[in-house]
Amino acid sequence: MTNTSVAEKFRCMEYGAAPEDPANSLRWLDEHRRRFGHYIGGKWKPPGQRRYFETADPSTGEKIADIAKGSAADVNAAVRAARAALPRWQALAPHARARFLYALARQVQKHSRFLAVLETLDNGKPIRESRDIDIPLVARHFYHHAGWAQLLEREFAGHCACGVVGQIIPWNFPLLMVAWKVAPALAAGNTVVLKPAEFTPLTALAFAELCEEVSLPPGVVNVVTGDGTTGAALVAHPDVDKIAFTGSTEVGRAIRRATADSHKKLSLELGGKSPFVVFEDADLDSAVEGLVDGIWLNQGQVCCAGSRLLMHESIAASLVKKLQARMSALRVGAPLDKNTDVGAIVARVQLERIAGLVRQGVAEGASCWQPDVALPTKGFYYPPTLFTNVHPASVVAQTEIFGPVLAAMTFRTPAEAVELANNTAYGLAASVWSESINVALHVAAQVKAGVVWVNSTNLFDAACGFGGYRQSGFGREGGREGMREYLEPIWLRKASLLRAAPGSQRRPPRADPALIDRTVKLYIGGKQVRPDSGYSFECRNVKGVLLGQAPLGNRKDIRNAVEAARRAQQWSTATAHQRAQVLYYAAENLTQRSAEVAAHLATVVGRKQAADEVRLGIERLFAYAAWADKYEGTVHSPPFRNISVAMNEAIGTVGVICPAQTPLLGFLSLVLPLVAAGNCVIAVPSAAYPLVAGDLYQVFDTSDVPGGVINIVTGHPSELVEVLAEHDDVDALWCYGEESLCAHAKRLSAGNLKQVWTNEGRRLNFFSALQGEGRWYLDHAFQVKNIWVPYGE
Ligand code: NAI
Repeated sequence: MTNTSVAEKFRCMEYGAAPEDPANSLRWLDEHRRRFGHYIGGKWKPPGQRRYFETADPSTGEKIADIAKGSAADVNAAVRAARAALPRWQALAPHARARFLYALARQVQKHSRFLAVLETLDNGKPIRESRDIDIPLVARHFYHHAGWAQLLEREFAGHCACGVVGQIIPWNFPLLMVAWKVAPALAAGNTVVLKPAEFTPLTALAFAELCEEVSLPPGVVNVVTGDGTTGAALVAHPDVDKIAFTGSTEVGRAIRRATADSHKKLSLELGGKSPFVVFEDADLDSAVEGLVDGIWLNQGQVCCAGSRLLMHESIAASLVKKLQARMSALRVGAPLDKNTDVGAIVARVQLERIAGLVRQGVAEGASCWQPDVALPTKGFYYPPTLFTNVHPASVVAQTEIFGPVLAAMTFRTPAEAVELANNTAYGLAASVWSESINVALHVAAQVKAGVVWVNSTNLFDAACGFGGYRQSGFGREGGREGMREYLEPIWLRKASLLRAAPGSQRRPPRADPALIDRTVKLYIGGKQVRPDSGYSFECRNVKGVLLGQAPLGNRKDIRNAVEAARRAQQWSTATAHQRAQVLYYAAENLTQRSAEVAAHLATVVGRKQAADEVRLGIERLFAYAAWADKYEGTVHSPPFRNISVAMNEAIGTVGVICPAQTPLLGFLSLVLPLVAAGNCVIAVPSAAYPLVAGDLYQVFDTSDVPGGVINIVTGHPSELVEVLAEHDDVDALWCYGEESLCAHAKRLSAGNLKQVWTNEGRRLNFFSALQGEGRWYLDHAFQVKNIWVPYGE
């Protein structure tokens, strides 16, 4: 008998293999003869062109099954099936739809082991993750949305479903992404055509069978498999009303462009390069465990992975030491083994991409450390990797690697931490570690990201919206805000299209520079300024009467206005009460000048409309003063030891192209919700009557609106929209105009992927409070940030 101590025994204790039995899932594959068609109209259909592709097991590289490759004709068949199913699905009572979603949740739970194994076989993620994270969240999503289906008519009164929804999902959380997409779409009364990722189609196909098992009406959910060309065909299909996409930023851009000329509603959940910020007072052992979840969950193939470690300089050395010790203990290997921490990378191409980026990191001079772990000889594996000595501008600090690679940097002050955290084109998530609640929340509020986890990471729940800022996309999934992505106000659907207003699209004639300066100026940074071009244009009413001269704003003027707006960003931190006071003051000042403003306006829109615009304009100022401190966030109670505080945050700097037809009321209806929300605005006033600018800035000037919060640049909308769309420091663009102008705005914003909200060329009735004011506008004026905070027992 050897005389080893207990401590010694613990140290040398080895895990035995603990493989999960895949027999059930393999049997299912065999029952399908390892060949799958599309699921269209409730039936399995072979691909029109009889073309298949292979899906493989990443842990061995071996083929699992043949999968139908969807052609445009297959997509068309699926869209037609979804369209045909729509009336019957929508005619069901909300309770009946709720029962279907509930049944799906139950069915997922009943088949949870089968689904978890199938997911792991197809994706390579450790069974512990698919079993304990993915599949329970899938069920939770259907339960939660069964609830929204039940409450739809009361909670979303006056709204209708978008119609047929095209949903394109990635390979990192295959079934979870099905749930994130399908559950809210069905709850809202849409029908769906789903395109799973080519690497991981199997669980989506198994889900189609669950739809059959619960007798979901045929055509409500259709699954068309294939690659990017299949996805592109779905995006391009004219009879699809909305596209919901999760995947790479590059494809997100292509989809933004491809949908610009249509009325398709769009939500994009794209990439990330999320910061994981550790302060000197953090519990370092917890932070290390957080990192294991943050960057090695799913081999780092997670859009919100904490891939940039930002450490306070004073604890950097000890944190790195602890981290390296923990990395050495991570078990990399067979995904079906219940003891595996890090499984296989989804495909060879992804493995090569990761390896290539790591090589670039080394070439750039960062120090690369990997634990001494033996990788399986077959399959696609990559060791946990840590870069230190990373330059913030380097490739490994800026590019989404989508692999088990962590890039570490240091900071000295909270301000520097925030600066580094925000030094990215993305804005999906962040994790902040500090024992000081003040520091953690102070930093969380300043990080530009849709989700911030305090002393935690990678927590998700169906009730808490998830989605990005900046190039991480727009729209949210989960919760009330996720439901909004699949609904539209009924009145909007019924609104007619604007007819091309004569002259509004034409370049205004240039006036003789000698004649200028009789009337209004640009309003930038709280000052009246001349246009950079030195030109003005004549403003005439429909009878051709010359009313005055408006400055012809250009690219330089917009740039100046953007700079002024960015300097005024403290408006977003003014209290809601302060913002309300300013709006009330503006209402008072407009009231005092109402006769004069109405008289000016009457020369263009007639006395009756002018009087109505002024009266309702004052009312609208009151309305947004009222809203300023009433459109508040929510506290979610997810089923964890956390609360999630959903904050409504200002978006930042927003460009607004105002409607031509209602020069005063249209301007106020669009600009005020943004200003009430704490945004700074660059507004291009009515093309029909840009002279309204003069009356407006006189009101704002006398109402304590801080300089730069509202900037007004007159000129030709189709030229100025281009500058606003392409300007990287304009965070969102609201464009009201004819169809072609709206399409232009969407197309031009594809480069920087800013949020663009348009009237889709429709005529909105700003004289109606229902259409012209309220939550519909505020929903677009804010973006939701969920801050998760540990709480409770
Ligand atoms: P991807 O963006 O190409 O694929 C995502 C989905 O979009 C798949 O279903 C694909 O078939 C489809 N798709 C591809 N091109 C399309 C097009 N033109 N129109 C419509 N649908 C299209 O992502 P991929 O190639 O699988 O991965 C490449 C990189 O993207 C990864 O290395 C990673 O950095 C990033 N990525 C990010 C994800 C995220 O959740 N943020 C998810 C997957 C990938």
